[in-house]
Amino acid sequence: MTNTFSFDLQNTDGKARTGVIHTPRGDIRTPAFMPVGTAATVKAMMPESVRETGADILLGNTYHLMLRPGAERIANLGGLHRFMNWDRPILTDSGGFQVMSLSELRKLTEKGVTFRSHIDGSKHFLSPETSMEIQRLLGSDIVMCFDECPALPADRTRLEESMRMSMRWAERSREAFGDRPGHALFGIQQGGLEEDLRAESAEALQNIGFDGYAVGGLAVGEGQQAMFDCLDFAPDQLPVDKPRYLMGVGKPDDIVGAVKRGIDMMDCVLPSRSGRTGQLFTRQGVVNIKNARHADDPRPLDEACRCPACRNYSRAYLHHVFRAQEMISGMLLTWHNLTYFQDIMQGMRDAIAAGTFAEWEAAFHAGRAQGDI
Ligand code: GUN
Ligand code: ZN
Repeated sequence: MTNTFSFDLQNTDGKARTGVIHTPRGDIRTPAFMPVGTAATVKAMMPESVRETGADILLGNTYHLMLRPGAERIANLGGLHRFMNWDRPILTDSGGFQVMSLSELRKLTEKGVTFRSHIDGSKHFLSPETSMEIQRLLGSDIVMCFDECPALPADRTRLEESMRMSMRWAERSREAFGDRPGHALFGIQQGGLEEDLRAESAEALQNIGFDGYAVGGLAVGEGQQAMFDCLDFAPDQLPVDKPRYLMGVGKPDDIVGAVKRGIDMMDCVLPSRSGRTGQLFTRQGVVNIKNARHADDPRPLDEACRCPACRNYSRAYLHHVFRAQEMISGMLLTWHNLTYFQDIMQGMRDAIAAGTFAEWEAAFHAGRAQGDI
């Protein structure tokens, strides 16, 4: 344990990297996948179980927590870690992205964004300054800059103006964050799919100076190939010696493709959300457990998986509890998906360290069937 935040890059294999982010709340092995705990819980999972899947860090959301139960309340109760019983690192997103996708009646200006809560219609304001204050009250270990993320496709002028405003907001975020030893502030690169705008954004962020750098504005409707094309240059524009975080990604093959291109951290609701809707990711491909052909199947979901859903239950049981809408269904299916995602990360970390990432990637793709199995 150290009392400061630092990143040790340990091995590279092609553009893929493995390392450790040291924080006062524990180490984060990279490449890292962060389960999403939006409302101070990874839905359907006890924190101890999330840890057993192999997670070193969770993601929380400024937007949701400021609306319910409120950042001041969480601060008065000892901070988000104590509140949700997770003592390891937490990264919080800054709110702007969630305002744009969830809230109503938004008004965006240079100052910030005024919006109405999707929960009760109450009026709120978020800006670089208020977002930094809320993330401080939550006790977040990795704080994200307040940014704007335009949906794609967007025309170049819109992308350029939005990116430049996000860079001015990054400067205000840095100023408002101040000096907080042991806590990190990450900048967020924007610029859509345009290489020169991404380069301008990366330079603006490096001139301000951050503890880590996120690639934002992807996985917003552009498709996997366009995202990979952008990731062929975007991570290279960011510092080698700082963590690089791809926000909101993704499916297993998106994650593998991102790590191959130099990404160190990712988050996505996919394993937890699709667990609750019966979509399972396995070594052989995607399984829809609600499908009738699992009703009499005594086999485990994934023979090679170490999770309780696979070790202790049949596909027939998982099918039954899903159809019957029993609470254990969301628990077991989420547990499986999160375990599989973490096992992919461990597989990549080991392969990068051994210099066998290409072979690992080939085996990963070969194992996955086309469509439902
Ligand atoms: N989550 C997914 N993409 C983004 C982004 O561009 N910015 C922020 N703040 N969060 C995100
Ligand atoms: Zn499993």
